[in-house]
Amino acid sequence: MSCLKTYDDTEWFTHAGQAFTQNVEADLEAGGVLWFPKLRFELTDAEQALLDPSLVDPKTKNISIRGPDAQLKGAAPTSNRQEELRQMIRRYRDHASALVDRLFPHYRGHLTVANTSYRPVAVEGRASSWRKDDTRLHVDAFPSNPSQGMRLLRVFNNINPSGVPRAWRVGEDFETFSRRHLDRIQAPLPGSAWLMEKLHVTKRRRTEYDHIMLQLHDRAKADMAWQQNSEQQAVDFPPGSTWVVFSDQVLHAAMGGQFMLEQTFTLESQDLLFPQLSPLHVLERLKGRPLRT
Ligand code: SIN
Ligand code: FE
Repeated sequence: MSCLKTYDDTEWFTHAGQAFTQNVEADLEAGGVLWFPKLRFELTDAEQALLDPSLVDPKTKNISIRGPDAQLKGAAPTSNRQEELRQMIRRYRDHASALVDRLFPHYRGHLTVANTSYRPVAVEGRASSWRKDDTRLHVDAFPSNPSQGMRLLRVFNNINPSGVPRAWRVGEDFETFSRRHLDRIQAPLPGSAWLMEKLHVTKRRRTEYDHIMLQLHDRAKADMAWQQNSEQQAVDFPPGSTWVVFSDQVLHAAMGGQFMLEQTFTLESQDLLFPQLSPLHVLERLKGRPLRT
């Protein structure tokens, strides 16, 4: 098993006359991890000083920006480095946006730029509960933020200054994984999606698709025998490398590492090159009915 597709790009932005990767939607949509071992996000001297976990608000683990005005969240309230943090994260957002624009021309005009996060806290000892424990294999699905079938495309970069890799495990393919659990997942309680939206427990309606994705996330993390024994691959992403995945499809676990940047984009399943490969369509095919209800 190897889900890793390696590309030797060295530049984020497209320059005339340079060899660079383009049109790799099919590899990504098939559940691949696109890996760019030579694609470094160069930090300025001033930014090097931001490699410090004490800059994060102790109540959270990540510092992020969101929205066109790059509003900063998660920085320690006492920090006087907030503007520098915001600029560094924004710079990463610009780099990641240029990269996906050339890698995936089919998605042009359909991608939405979502949060950009800076993760300065070591993975080891980060989890507060089994459900939040990302050292267990899982697909990304969030209780309060239903995707309603929208894809989660993520661009990661390891900016560790002392050679520490981001150590991941990558698991079996999405269909094999979901077939394992699907028969035992019960339908949501009637009226529960409506009530959760009404009470603002969820930001929008939790569709049956979201219900199943959350169950898959939880059942994967709760099954320790499967965590240990299922088909999987350990992958170390060294500092100075970039990797791109659909994190709602690729089973992944972060086992170690510190200092990473991550950009999320969202995309409707219908705007993929092969919509039938999306988790939404795979689950609808297995269940035999529409799930975005
Ligand atoms: C995750 O998305 O599960 C965590 C990825 C990471 O922190 O490396
Ligand atoms: Fe995850």
